[in-house]
Amino acid sequence: MINNFITDQKAKLTVEGKTYEFPVIIGSEGEKAIDIRSLRQETGYITLDTGFMNTGSCGSEITFLEGSNGILNYRGYTIEDLAENCSFVEVAYLLLHDNLPTQAELDHFKMLLSRFALIHEDLIHFFDHFPPNASPMAILSSMVNSLSNFYPEMTENPLENIDKNAARLISKVRTIAACTYKKSLGSPLVYPRHDLSYCGNFLNMMFDSPVKPYKVNKEVVAALNKILILHADHEQNCSTSTVRLVGSARVNLYASISAGISALWGPLHGGANQAVIEMLEAIYNEDGNYNKYIERAKDPNDPFRLVGFGHRVYKNYDPRAKIIKKACDEVLAILKTSDPLLDIAKELEEVALNDDYFIKRNLYPNVDFYSGIVYRAIGIPTNMFTVMFALGRLPGWIAHWKEMWDDPNWRIGRPRQVYVGPKKRPFVPVEERG
Ligand code: SDX
Repeated sequence: MINNFITDQKAKLTVEGKTYEFPVIIGSEGEKAIDIRSLRQETGYITLDTGFMNTGSCGSEITFLEGSNGILNYRGYTIEDLAENCSFVEVAYLLLHDNLPTQAELDHFKMLLSRFALIHEDLIHFFDHFPPNASPMAILSSMVNSLSNFYPEMTENPLENIDKNAARLISKVRTIAACTYKKSLGSPLVYPRHDLSYCGNFLNMMFDSPVKPYKVNKEVVAALNKILILHADHEQNCSTSTVRLVGSARVNLYASISAGISALWGPLHGGANQAVIEMLEAIYNEDGNYNKYIERAKDPNDPFRLVGFGHRVYKNYDPRAKIIKKACDEVLAILKTSDPLLDIAKELEEVALNDDYFIKRNLYPNVDFYSGIVYRAIGIPTNMFTVMFALGRLPGWIAHWKEMWDDPNWRIGRPRQVYVGPKKRPFVPVEERG
């Protein structure tokens, strides 16, 4: 709990000739904060911090990021160790609880995921009423929000059944994602099977067909586990902060997650993995001429950004991008295939990392730069890439929602502002305006 990390040190602020002191907080990994929770009450001032670049919204025990050295730990375990040694389900359990599961805890969690894999048949009919080219992210957000209508106990006692509801959501979102893909093809739905793992079930529901049975490849399953682990949490990113903010109004888990899905959709956030592939395809179709895109990215008058590059926190190589880049080569080798977009991506990275513009701004590949290459190799269509990001991030969103509801310091999120509009003025009737 954050109050346990308040130190005896004080930060001083002098304004209008008066000096105020505010406590200094130092987190378990050395992050420093000035506790300004009494600032407005004591000084009459608020702070302004557009984009919240310098503002902490909470204390959290879930994930630690260190941007200058590219460190990412989930509940103290390094992402490298977890990606190398765990399944996604194990890491989902870790994020939702304080520790990695014992075998018995893991078996129970897997049993719940199997038990909740089906979605209500009435919910399946919802798919019949989306237009054929509907965005999978719009469908996912709508379906998740609608889930709360099918499980009213979710809204009545949210924390009482949190483990059950977390497992239900993690399992059903995977089924909804696969159904979304099958429906987009006009293909028959493939139902989950109890004899398959979380990721194996997803791949089977995506690619199995009555006329051509899909053979689940265990090495592809391993790669998908790794990719989902790498996406599972990332402290107070835009979508997780959205889940917390919406949930802070005492909104049920499913509606809060639905809001997080909408935030993730943005091309500056989770939507970047789809935009990266679209950019690489455009470069490929222009004979691999990536220099134009590098120059556009550097042009202050051009809104184009080199998607998949840059990060609010990482001012070094995103540790997830390193692992995913290696997974690209591994999956392509397993599937005995190649992808010219990977070659373009590697060349683009090489040129950018040696260009002063990117060096000066500490712009490196982020989690989205290579992930689409792995999804393509597996056969996942580009418009489902951000849905894959949501599948991975779901345990993190739920963990943060749960942590916030459990937090005795929790308050409804309600930032202030500085008004800069017109000062008070007399009303003018419409007939006198002109
Ligand atoms: C994710 O927050 C998270 O943790 C997110 C995430 C997660 O796991 O949840 O990691 C997932 O969202 C990864 C990011 C995916 N988005 C993209 O790849 C889109 C491209 N990247 C940029 O839009 C940007 O880097 C952001 C949005 C990721 C970060 O933006 P910031 O922190 O607000 O940085 P900024 O806009 O202040 O940029 C600082 C400078 C600016 O130049 P100057 O004004 O100083 O001259 O760097 C430039 C920017 O123009 N810059 C880029 C750039 N990213 C930043 N220039 C060209 N190409 C880019 N990609």
